[in-house]
Amino acid sequence: MLILSGNEVRQALSMRDAIQAVRSAMARLSAGECIVPERAHMDVQEHSGVALVMPSCVPADERMSVKVITLYDRNPERGMPRIQAVVLLFDAATGAPLAMMDGGVLTAIRTGAGSGVATDLLARLDSRRVAVFGAGQQARTQLEAVCYVRSIASAAVYDPDEAAARRFANEMTESLKMPVAAAGSAREAMIGADIVCTATVSRTPVFHDSDVRPGTHINAIGSYKPHVQELPGSTVARSRVFTDYRAGALTEPGDLLIPISEGLFGPEHVVGEIGDVLLGRTPGRASDDEITLYKSVGVAVQDLAAASAALAGARERGLGTEVAL
Ligand SMILES: NC(=O)c1ccc[n+]([C@@H]2O[C@H](COP(=O)([O-])OP(=O)(O)OC[C@H]3O[C@@H](n4cnc5c(N)ncnc54)[C@H](O)[C@@H]3O)[C@@H](O)[C@H]2O)c1
Repeated sequence: MLILSGNEVRQALSMRDAIQAVRSAMARLSAGECIVPERAHMDVQEHSGVALVMPSCVPADERMSVKVITLYDRNPERGMPRIQAVVLLFDAATGAPLAMMDGGVLTAIRTGAGSGVATDLLARLDSRRVAVFGAGQQARTQLEAVCYVRSIASAAVYDPDEAAARRFANEMTESLKMPVAAAGSAREAMIGADIVCTATVSRTPVFHDSDVRPGTHINAIGSYKPHVQELPGSTVARSRVFTDYRAGALTEPGDLLIPISEGLFGPEHVVGEIGDVLLGRTPGRASDDEITLYKSVGVAVQDLAAASAALAGARERGLGTEVAL
């Protein structure tokens, strides 16, 4: 079995390979070719934490995985990441364990890759400017993935933690070789935005609906609990809405559940999964004026696809530590 640290996962799995792997996984998910048991949520309220156990299998690929991910709200104050995770990858034909890898880095890459696939399918081709909400772990790979699929010229990030926003702006300006500015307000970040990424831990909408221009594409990946809403209900109501995984998106995130409970729209407002667009079953963007929304809650086949690609990349590059159990 190969053990991969977070750094090794980063070296083994480029955003290009992750987008390719997640694209194929999302098509297979919508085609009904994946086994995806409902993920188990374990609330550890005493410590403001949640653990999720996320299994999945693609029998045709002979691969199976389980991710155990913990999300601890007080960790940033401790100087620890909010999200920590381990992914175990198995051979689905024999049940043999193949790899164990850092799931924190893998989650950030695969969640970014999911938004990369959605942006590639749904954003206007002439999109040039990105507004990013949240300056944390996920926001970095969101912006990286969007820049991979569109010719982005500049970005602005808003985070109420001003120091985090400045750090993000400096690091991303350097790594993406384009101007990324820290905005002083949500409204300032939205000026001129063609693509908006929300990757925050906010419980309430992070921008005003009136600041969303016609033709915008939104990737919203932060909310996965029923009382947590990153997006104004009115923005969701006037968007054409796609999800990574319909079953999860209609049972978990406040972004959809709250406006549905307020009667703004019904579940049929979700036009399809990204995989449905890839399979040609559901049309993507219909006009330059349409607002498109990719609402992601995360689904285990994205981890499986990314972990398989990371293992292949690690083997090619001679990365990781082999252990006999
Ligand atoms: N959809 C998925 O597959 C998926 C995968 C991983 C994480 N997530 C979710 O993404 C969210 C972010 O995770 P992370 O690892 O980046 O966390 P993080 O703690 O690294 O970063 C979150 C950032 O959001 C900022 N923030 C809070 N309120 C804000 C507001 N109103 N406007 C702008 N920024 C605000 C915080 O200050 C913080 O910097 C979490 O809710 C997590 O559960 C989703």
